[in-house]
Amino acid sequence: MPYYRVTGEIPRKRHTRFQRPGGGLYAEELMGEEGFSSDSSLLYHVHPPTAIVKSEAMTADAEQATLAANHPLLPRHYRTQDLARSGDLVLARQVLMGNDDVRISYVTVDAPSDLYRNSTGDEAIYVHSGSIRFESVYGMIGAAAGDYVVVPRGTIHRWIPAGTSGQDAPAEPVTALVIEARGHIRPPGRYLSQAGQFLEHAPYCERDLRGPGEPLIVEGDNVEVLVRHRQGVTRYTYAHHPFDVVGWDGCLYPYAFSIKDFEPITGRLHQPPPVHQTFEGPGFVICSFVPRLFDYHPESIPAPYNHSNVDSDEMIFYVGGDFMSRKGAGIEMGSITLHPSGFTHGPQPGSVEASIGAVRTEEYAVMVDTFRPLDLADAAFACEDAAYPWTWAGAAARLTGPADGTTAG
Ligand SMILES: [Fe+2]
Repeated sequence: MPYYRVTGEIPRKRHTRFQRPGGGLYAEELMGEEGFSSDSSLLYHVHPPTAIVKSEAMTADAEQATLAANHPLLPRHYRTQDLARSGDLVLARQVLMGNDDVRISYVTVDAPSDLYRNSTGDEAIYVHSGSIRFESVYGMIGAAAGDYVVVPRGTIHRWIPAGTSGQDAPAEPVTALVIEARGHIRPPGRYLSQAGQFLEHAPYCERDLRGPGEPLIVEGDNVEVLVRHRQGVTRYTYAHHPFDVVGWDGCLYPYAFSIKDFEPITGRLHQPPPVHQTFEGPGFVICSFVPRLFDYHPESIPAPYNHSNVDSDEMIFYVGGDFMSRKGAGIEMGSITLHPSGFTHGPQPGSVEASIGAVRTEEYAVMVDTFRPLDLADAAFACEDAAYPWTWAGAAARLTGPADGTTAG
């Protein structure tokens, strides 16, 4: 995270005595990336954050997901709206695809999660519908449809969807896309100054990021936390509730960013997908397609040109707006497409011509481009639209009328 925040009470100097009311010292913890060589925060706990009393191996469904190669090589269309299973945001993840760098899951959330810590990498959760509360050792962040919540590796947290706490009114179901990295998810380096400040040409800046605002203290003894690590999931029992931080400061913390705060970069001629880039992680990028003016050269073609991403696989999650116009390809709200390296993709038949003269688009889509091939998991095969690969050849267009193509991707 690029900039400094402070929340709650902290001592004036780091690594000095910080007295608890009633006696004793607060326990200082450094959460730091890259071995004391990158961003970090100092947290002040009521109890030692080290005190565990039990450790048990457990099996989580997501860990069981087996990945199969995209072979024979095909463009894919998945209808996440057909995935019926629901549960909590951590254990009910349905893995769709992944590789050694990133794993992408879809989840329908109707229950609060256990406390959870992912020690294998950062996570970016894109909330597609509903609203949900993110609670962590750093404090709470409220999130709703359109929000990315970026959770640094090692952050103990839990997810509580609206309508499930026993006090809330029933609420819209929460659905989310979960992007699990094997490293850190950060804003694109080219948008940051040497000191980590967002530069003027960045499509968003510090004011658009929402971090935890105040400490979150929860009393409790013998509290279970699921720890995801390279070998699986271990259930720790902590002597005291880990939400006992009275204050913290630093440049490493979870935050939310709404796709609606992404300011699109447009031009006279079609702008390439990097203008939509929102985050980057090792081996992948995350991009946001948002409502924007189309290209304004008098002879411009707003629809994208056919393209071969020779070095990447491209996943697009269609989350809002007018891509219903891509009906000829079967794309609807909640659809995910995967266009792999080795396949040339582009607009559906008729959409280049149909796009001429269009002034703006209202679409929202989230794209993950990976630099290594994405393998496919069972949940993806379970919701696959088998007709999609052949839609550019015109068969679907003949059946349903000309498609007019989203411009995403
Ligand atoms: Fe593309």
